Amino acid sequence: MTEKVIIVTGAASGIGAACMKTLVQQGYKVCAVDRDPIDAGAIGGTGSHLVTAKADVSKPEDCRNAVATAERAYGRVDGLIHMAAIHSTKTWRELDAEEFNRTLSVNVTGSFLMAQAAALAMEKTGGGAIVLASSGSISVSGVGGHGRGGAAYVSSKAAIIGLTRALARSLAPSGIRVNAVSPGATQTAMTAEYDEVALAKVAERTLTGSIGRPEEIAAAAVFLVSDAASYIDGEILAVNGGGSFGL
Ligand SMILES: NC(=O)c1ccc[n+]([C@@H]2O[C@H](COP(=O)([O-])OP(=O)(O)OC[C@H]3O[C@@H](n4cnc5c(N)ncnc54)[C@H](O)[C@@H]3O)[C@@H](O)[C@H]2O)c1
Repeated sequence: MTEKVIIVTGAASGIGAACMKTLVQQGYKVCAVDRDPIDAGAIGGTGSHLVTAKADVSKPEDCRNAVATAERAYGRVDGLIHMAAIHSTKTWRELDAEEFNRTLSVNVTGSFLMAQAAALAMEKTGGGAIVLASSGSISVSGVGGHGRGGAAYVSSKAAIIGLTRALARSLAPSGIRVNAVSPGATQTAMTAEYDEVALAKVAERTLTGSIGRPEEIAAAAVFLVSDAASYIDGEILAVNGGGSFGL
């Protein structure tokens, strides 16, 4: 059990919600962040172990306010698990500049802004850890359609790899580790529009023969943010049931 303070974004749904739950169960103090309402009912409501903050992570002020909420509640910040992101399933022919830019703004700039705000807080107490979210869609698909991520989404998740590595080097002098999880297709709102074609491809591509559960990705993210991962820095951890074989 630990009493460390972790900020979790995207906590209203899917993997972020599973991270929030896992962290609370393990004794962490959590600041849960989302643009949508967060359901804290399943983990005993808000209180000494959980506060929530409403934020649009593409807005610098919202990110700073979310971090300030954690500092006000607990007096410090030890980690960030950043899961907030939007999907874009349009094909190359359907995509326009507006959707492309919005996807990059939320998924890439949002990751940077939350990491920057959290790092400024973690610096004050001598360090911490950050976990970002890339995606297996970079290597296996990327064409959009059938509910799957297209060029805008895949570009945004590829950028997270560069961001993770750049931040790992930038923040090492401040004692802050930065890693990312790269989930395979996982059963959340983001994949709810997968049609039969997309679902069949997911199971085919994994060694486990299954689509991921949010808890399975959360377990890896919580590990990376924890002290158990103290010697892991600048890495992208595939969590995909063996999907890396690219079958
Ligand atoms: N589900 C998958 O198959 C899958 C696969 C690979 C990577 N990922 C990545 O994992 C992370 C979590 O995905 P998920 O499947 O849980 O998605 P999800 O759609 O279930 O949850 C995403 C959350 O982010 C929030 N969000 C979106 N835009 C926001 C903004 N501007 N400000 C604040 N909050 C915002 C949403 O409200 C939602 O609660 C994402 O980064 C996603 O790209 C998911």
